[in-house]
Amino acid sequence: MNIILLGPPGAGKGTQAQRLVEHHGMRQLSTGDMLRAAVKAQSPVGLKARAVMERGELVSDEIVSELIDAELTAMGPETGAIFDGYPRTSAQALALDEILARHGRQLDHVIELEVDEDALVARITGRYACASCGEGYHDRFKQPEREGTCDRCGSHEFKRRPDDNEQTVRHRMAVYRAETAPILPGYETRGIVSRVDGMAPIETVTSEIDALLV
Ligand code: AP5
Repeated sequence: MNIILLGPPGAGKGTQAQRLVEHHGMRQLSTGDMLRAAVKAQSPVGLKARAVMERGELVSDEIVSELIDAELTAMGPETGAIFDGYPRTSAQALALDEILARHGRQLDHVIELEVDEDALVARITGRYACASCGEGYHDRFKQPEREGTCDRCGSHEFKRRPDDNEQTVRHRMAVYRAETAPILPGYETRGIVSRVDGMAPIETVTSEIDALLV
């Protein structure tokens, strides 16, 4: 099974991808996470991507498609893939078709998380993560059980993304509308698009996605 999770910044793609990994043993392929790892490692890709990401613009199609291709090569054919944050442009959608064909895979579902953009700004600007294990938290929706201590690993260090301020978030949303939303009709003509209410509680969203995957 190979699926795309599609939706604007903060729609819950990463949250749902992690839950699908736990439920279905699939692998999350998040180009955002891959790029942030490259920035942290100060690799050549990271050095190119850093300023682009901080402005909320898109990194080049070639870079992200190469990252996805490399991950699929490393995964082997038996593990299902959840594409989180990729494809984001028409060129990436074409590249993904070509990459999947080369790996003997096919796209089974494109799941669009439908959301209210204003609510998303609050979601994104309030989120943070454990600096040690990456567990996600939110100022209002999901705080650690013991203040200042990660529930999962006990670390006291937390981090916020540099592109999670309101101005950049609004720009990322505009980029989504201009560059990413237009790839949906192409998938619709293939009859593989499903829509899920991304404003529902996290568990409800997961149940709806689970129901699509049986
Ligand atoms: P990326 O990391 O992909 O960011 P994004 O698409 O902007 O999405 P987010 O990670 O912000 O949101 P999400 O939908 O995963 O939501 P989450 O689950 O975290 O990309 C970052 C940058 O990298 C891009 O701007 C670009 O520069 C570059 N990039 C990446 N991929 C690229 C590509 N393919 N091409 C070119 N450039 C690329 O949830 C958000 C918060 O809401 C969390 O706190 C969560 O707990 C909470 N939450 C989630 N669901 C719910 C719910 N149902 N109810 C209440 N709270 C919820």
